[in-house]
Amino acid sequence: MVNRHGGGAALLDEPETIFAIVSAVRRAVPVHMPVSAKMRLGFNDDSRAEECAQAIADGGADELVVHARTKAQAYRPPAYWERIADIRAALNIPVVANGEIWTLDDARRCRQASGCEMLMLGRGIVTDPGLGLAIKVGDLSGGITWAELLPLLAEFWRIVCARLERRSQAGRFKQWLNFLRRRFPEAEVAYQQLKTVNDPALIEAWLAGQSTGR
Ligand SMILES: Cc1cc2nc3c(=O)[nH]c(=O)nc-3n(C[C@H](O)[C@H](O)[C@H](O)COP(=O)(O)O)c2cc1C
Repeated sequence: MVNRHGGGAALLDEPETIFAIVSAVRRAVPVHMPVSAKMRLGFNDDSRAEECAQAIADGGADELVVHARTKAQAYRPPAYWERIADIRAALNIPVVANGEIWTLDDARRCRQASGCEMLMLGRGIVTDPGLGLAIKVGDLSGGITWAELLPLLAEFWRIVCARLERRSQAGRFKQWLNFLRRRFPEAEVAYQQLKTVNDPALIEAWLAGQSTGR
């Protein structure tokens, strides 16, 4: 929808429009407030990635996040972290690397390939909410355990119930479990138990059966 109206990744075929947008945002935002931008490598191919990044920097952005895939590559692995290094080399603003960082080892390899110290986590931190902490200390033990995660699941459920219609609540909860099960065996067990459940009362009962500290 966004792309059909010339927004989002469709802009990656129009660096001059990117420049105009970032410049307009920079003018509109108070000087003490940083402006950051995020881009993919391109729409169908990555041939204009540096040009787009340059347009963002020239427009006055203070920082750029690069999701190292084109729109056409969607969310399929791999992410082309080495292309972020090319972009970094062309710019004089800080660049943040993003895409396909699921583990400590991915973070290490991404930093090496991109030359970026700063990383942005997408699905990886949904899958392992302790991943950022683990990366910070360089050890998985710096992350969070399933026991520490349970109160967050309970809090998430509370928010889901407050904001979504009843018929969508269980599905949203299972959506997170579906990510978490890639990392936590306990989430896999829960997912198998709940995958056909649509009644919020049963999610509630499952949570009550866990020691969430509630
Ligand atoms: C739950 C979730 C919400 C996201 N929201 C946004 C968003 O608002 N804006 C955006 O540019 N990207 C958003 N993304 C995309 C991520 O920032 C990231 O670019 C993408 O997921 C690729 O990184 P990954 O391979 O680590 O998932 C979101 C991703 C996830 C998983």
